[in-house]
Amino acid sequence: MIVCEGLTKTFGSITAIQDFNIEIPDGRIFGLLGPNGAGKTTTMRMLSCLIRPTSGKAYIDSYEIGMKEDARKIRYMIGLLPEVPGLYETLGAYKNLDYYAQFYGISKIQREKSIKTTLTNLGLWDRRNEPVGSFSKGMKQKIAIARALIHNPKYIFLDEPTASLDPAAAKMVREYILELKSQGDTILINTHNLSEADRICDTVVLVKNRAIKSGNPKELARGLFARTINITMQKIPPSLLKDITSLDFISQTQVNGHQLVLSVRNPEEDNPRVISWLMNQGLQVQFVTEVEHSLEDVYLELIKERV
Ligand SMILES: Nc1ncnc2c1ncn2[C@@H]1O[C@H](COP(=O)(O)OP(=O)(O)O)[C@@H](O)[C@H]1O
Ligand SMILES: [Mg+2]
Repeated sequence: MIVCEGLTKTFGSITAIQDFNIEIPDGRIFGLLGPNGAGKTTTMRMLSCLIRPTSGKAYIDSYEIGMKEDARKIRYMIGLLPEVPGLYETLGAYKNLDYYAQFYGISKIQREKSIKTTLTNLGLWDRRNEPVGSFSKGMKQKIAIARALIHNPKYIFLDEPTASLDPAAAKMVREYILELKSQGDTILINTHNLSEADRICDTVVLVKNRAIKSGNPKELARGLFARTINITMQKIPPSLLKDITSLDFISQTQVNGHQLVLSVRNPEEDNPRVISWLMNQGLQVQFVTEVEHSLEDVYLELIKERV
């Protein structure tokens, strides 16, 4: 488990992240979601023992970051994909992975075994000696992620893994991350990409130099907005919007073509009442669906005061 307690980092007069508190249970994909300059990289670098916090504490299992005697242990427990991974472009894929694995003191036999498995899984075993510079951007980033995993870390930290990639390469990398997720790994991912966070993360924390809110992306949306339902009808008479306000549990109404959009307090209870009211008016209901608010809506709503 990863725990942050009041984690704070300042650079001179700049506060990169302040009073940051999170708990990340094992086996979850946790996203730090926020715009540029929100303090995501700073937080990840502190958790990786690359920089020390100004104040506050953080623990990776029972080890404390910022403690010299624990830093070595922590570095073995985590695999970090930094914002700029810096592969050796002239070296082959195999050599890139091997070079890195040697830092962790992994035996030659173990290195050979794990690099072979990794490159085979990535479909690159036959191309292991070709210089990494000749690979596509998506492939390079997959190798960079594989390199971060070469010592079989318990925690995987990915700092904006798709930010510098074109859409095709980003898709390739996202699929790779989803594969890691399906293996039950614990992943901390920094991203400013809302749909990526929504697709990959179990829990997100919105950050803007402090934690703004955390939760499951869909629960966050529900907590913020009234629940909205969409009713498709064969025909909507012009007076309907006015007449339906006689139902006091409806807060907002709108008509889009054949669809009536309503905000209600509690769809489980209110939908049957709306439908029987519509039927009593002699109207025919074809479909009723709930409108899901996207993570983007939540994000904009939550950071709008703070941008
Ligand atoms: N080494 C540093 N020296 C000075 N300021 C820094 C340093 N690292 C980050 N910052 C500042 O801290 C803030 C947060 O940066 P960062 O953690 O990189 O944000 P993010 O990764 O969310 O884009 C920014 O204002 C950035 O300029
Ligand atoms: Mg960053």
